[in-house]
Amino acid sequence: MADVTILTGDVLTFDGSPFDGDPTESVRMHEAVALEHGRVAAVGTRDDLTAQFPQAARVDHPGKLIMAGFVDAHVHYPQTAMIASWGKRLIDWLNSYTFPEEMKFASPEYAAEISNRYLDLTAAHGTTTMCSFATIHPESVDAFFEAAQSRGQRVVAGKTCMDRNAPEGLRDTAQTGYDQSAALLQRWHGVDRISYAITPRFSPTSTPEQLEAMGALWSENPGCLMQTHLSEQTDEIEWVKGLFPDARDYLDTYEQFGLLGAGGLYGHAIHLEPRERDRLREVDASLVHCPTSNTFIGSGLFDMAGLMAEGQRIGLATDTGGGSSFSMLRTMAAAYEIGQLRGVPLHSAQLLWLATLGSARSLRMDDKIGNIAPGMEADLVVLDLASTPAIAQRSAVAKDLWEAVFPTIMMGDDRAVTEVWIAGRQVSF
Ligand code: GUN
Ligand code: ZN
Repeated sequence: MADVTILTGDVLTFDGSPFDGDPTESVRMHEAVALEHGRVAAVGTRDDLTAQFPQAARVDHPGKLIMAGFVDAHVHYPQTAMIASWGKRLIDWLNSYTFPEEMKFASPEYAAEISNRYLDLTAAHGTTTMCSFATIHPESVDAFFEAAQSRGQRVVAGKTCMDRNAPEGLRDTAQTGYDQSAALLQRWHGVDRISYAITPRFSPTSTPEQLEAMGALWSENPGCLMQTHLSEQTDEIEWVKGLFPDARDYLDTYEQFGLLGAGGLYGHAIHLEPRERDRLREVDASLVHCPTSNTFIGSGLFDMAGLMAEGQRIGLATDTGGGSSFSMLRTMAAAYEIGQLRGVPLHSAQLLWLATLGSARSLRMDDKIGNIAPGMEADLVVLDLASTPAIAQRSAVAKDLWEAVFPTIMMGDDRAVTEVWIAGRQVSF
């Protein structure tokens, strides 16, 4: 097999943020990308790359869009089999659907089956990296990392710690949560393309003792990410107030235990107080927008424009299975719709950036993934911008790239995903 592969098509790269000035100015288009040893070797014209790598294998995708694989900054892989569960809001949804399903991950066989099913499904949707919550069971972390490792995939995950307000069988303690998380972190963090994230589910399901233990573990391992949930629904916020009467606000239930910092990922972050917004920005934490989840569970409208304008670091995510899709295309569409409900339409360049480089930035991995540039890891997606008759008839009359790509963002799904490359190798699905 040739060491170098050249993909030709419409190769989209970012050389800036589309949230700074004219969104289209952040994007560059190229004719070809060369992949070597799992990384991007070069981007350029077809002729230049063919001359530079005369022995390369070549795969031509005329008229197709080639871009970085999607990065999903907040998912629950164990919720794969209960996605699209009807009719509940957050707390009831967790108790009725989520916790019974997560209980099944006591079985390592089930954890392995769902890990592989989830990674198959998401690859077919063009997602090449995700940051996942596992369950309380250490085996659920091992299963997910083993499945990702065998695919050469860059992933982040952690054992979801809960020591209260969860059913028997789905609770650890402050001590076992710490010990099991520490052991998993030791075993996996930095192995191949795997990163460990310290993962207290959210403050209602952790005692102050457990939050303190998680904070201690993070301070002992400051190179790890820390992921949790913040201010998703108003009922949840009221519950947090009752559980932590001395806290200044929801964020303070993390902050007072050392769980606020750069490298912190706060899922949802919808109903934020001014103090919370200030503190999140001051420490340069990451907020993760989960738009299909926010409409599906009825949580609220994330303030993308306001939060971006004040300089917050923001990623985009499906939140599978509170989110109603595995697709980052569908997720971009939902982010657009929420923007519209708030009076601010997001540009296609902004949506594509959020689903790749923005999410990679939120995971502090934008030097490795989320863009196509020499030296970056070769995780790519090839998109068909005419994947269904409905999309094709609209993109056929597009006047420019942005009009051609927007119908796929709004109406596309896994049928738009022609090819996926992970670490320079084509994935079969
Ligand atoms: N808050 C705490 N746990 C969860 C979860 O699993 N999904 C969502 N959407 N919100 C949560
Ligand atoms: Zn979540």
